[in-house]
Amino acid sequence: MPFAHITGWGMSVPEAVLTNDDLAKIVDTNDAWIRERTGIRERRIARENQFPSTLGAEAALKALEVANVQPTDVDLIICATSSPEHIFPATACLIQDLIGADKAGAFDLSAACSGFIYALNMAAQSIRSGSIKTALVIGTETLSRFVNWKDRNTCILFGDGAGAFVLQASEQPGGVFSAVMRSDGSGGDLLSIPAGGSRHPATEAAIHAGSHYIHMDGREVFRFATRVMASSTKEALDVAGWTVDQIQHIVPHQANIRIIEAAARGLKLPMDKFVVNLERYGNTSTASIPIATVEAATSGRIKPGDKLVMVGFGGGLTWGALTAEWTGPLPSERKVKPQKGSTLRRARSFLRRILRFIDGLLSPREL
Ligand code: UT7
Repeated sequence: MPFAHITGWGMSVPEAVLTNDDLAKIVDTNDAWIRERTGIRERRIARENQFPSTLGAEAALKALEVANVQPTDVDLIICATSSPEHIFPATACLIQDLIGADKAGAFDLSAACSGFIYALNMAAQSIRSGSIKTALVIGTETLSRFVNWKDRNTCILFGDGAGAFVLQASEQPGGVFSAVMRSDGSGGDLLSIPAGGSRHPATEAAIHAGSHYIHMDGREVFRFATRVMASSTKEALDVAGWTVDQIQHIVPHQANIRIIEAAARGLKLPMDKFVVNLERYGNTSTASIPIATVEAATSGRIKPGDKLVMVGFGGGLTWGALTAEWTGPLPSERKVKPQKGSTLRRARSFLRRILRFIDGLLSPREL
């Protein structure tokens, strides 16, 4: 049975920074409160022409370059997102087109902020089963578009960004070892975007009521999160047959420093085992775990051979944890050229549309 190794990683965040002081100018809040209650100092906000697909594609291309893999070698793209560009088509398909992954299947996975853990596990299982060899797993968000900028309970928390991993099959032991995925739909109303789906379509009344924004019971989500972060980490470690002392890093969902500190207490681990960057990006939902991992791997903090746990929670309610041994690029004889040249990829996508149009004109109409 092949192992599923993490062989490439990349991230992309918008350039625009929104500080706590900037927020204090639009809602009744202040820097001291936000830093003390959440640990967040600033977050990134997408420009009008930045979307989950464009941020996700940039992160994916960087990850492919690290892994030394061509987009055309990718068999499967799973995009975890809480801010999909449309109900359909899937954001994963938009990314597939943007990067030119011509032979990949592509779908979105909706498990709110736990989505990246779920997606990584699904991709790893597809590789472990032998049915595919190479997968791209992406967490990407522009949640700022679903934030009610008048609601100080939520608007201080979220930020935009994307992170991506390449997973590849290898007979060498390593990569993803175990995962647990859990849910409790009875808590669905604690964190939701109520309107815009088929139950409450995006009517004028829904928009007037602000039901198309993120709604959250912060205290209840906080209580739930502090309960499940340590317990699911322990469960994933048990399944892998590892003890907590064997792991070098825990990469938690970057929601609130107090939730991470509670997890550290629950696991009896020092905070320096936890990779934390929420002070600079806020909560980027599905992107928070890959962005934190990418920064730690790029700086050399996470090294090949290190054992780590990624653990998250979110709307649904959902939560989960995954253990992995960090690998890095697999040995390869050919060197893939840096993935630049978006003009060429855009031209290829445009050509496909033209060909489809011509094909439509020439095909006999069926009655
Ligand atoms: O991916 C999952 C996403 N969600 C989460 O992770 C959310 C988890 N929950 C949290 O992180 C925290 O509950 C929050 C950061 C949202 C809130 O922190 P808290 O310590 O639970 O504050 P609270 O809701 O208990 O509010 C305490 C006080 C209240 O005032 P009173 O009633 O005591 O007078 C709030 O009105 O703080 C007030 N408050 C604020 N003050 C200044 C709430 N938000 C703000 C704010 N600035 N932004």
